[in-house]
Amino acid sequence: MKKMNFLLAATIAASLMTVACKKKTETQTVYVDNTPPAPAPSLYTRLGGIGPITAVVDKFIGNCATNSFIGPRFSATAADSYRLKYFRYNLIDQICAGSGGPCQYKGQTMLAAHTGMNITGPEFDTLVVQLVKAMTFYNVPAQEQGDLASILLPMKTDIVGH
Ligand code: HEM
Repeated sequence: MKKMNFLLAATIAASLMTVACKKKTETQTVYVDNTPPAPAPSLYTRLGGIGPITAVVDKFIGNCATNSFIGPRFSATAADSYRLKYFRYNLIDQICAGSGGPCQYKGQTMLAAHTGMNITGPEFDTLVVQLVKAMTFYNVPAQEQGDLASILLPMKTDIVGH
């Protein structure tokens, strides 16, 4: 009986030690209020949402239309209120959706929209400068300017030279 008790005690001690050792090696994140940290805000949120995006797009379109180099590219669009309206909506949706906002871009692919225009590299770069000017006008911080530019710049291959 004594032997049995000793064996039982030894088994319990061994399993307690295993638990204790396991506890020591396990790492566990403990949140003080039981909630994990909120995910980093999307670029859409950091830009301020649809209002500020719309303001930037309007300024951007105005900058492009009045730019001496690329302005002529947009003269037919500016002269047709229906065309201008949908171009504007498409740009807003594209930036909203691309930055993680609740919009859906319903326009053409960048390749389809710009095929037949033979847009050049310098024209593309000039258009990007107009966007940067619009963002700077509305005090968009450098981080967000860079983040939006890095969403749009990869589109260059679908837009230039087709
Ligand atoms: C990252 C750069 C660019 C973006 C994100 C962009 C975006 C767009 C979008 C969303 C549309 C509308 C597509 C549709 O109708 O379904 C469009 C059309 C157009 N884009 Fe671009 N574009 C870019 C570069 C350029 C450049 C460099 C030019 C010329 C200098 C240009 C000229 C035009 C013109 C003329 C239209 C047709 C507008 C109309 O419907 O009347 N785009 N672009």
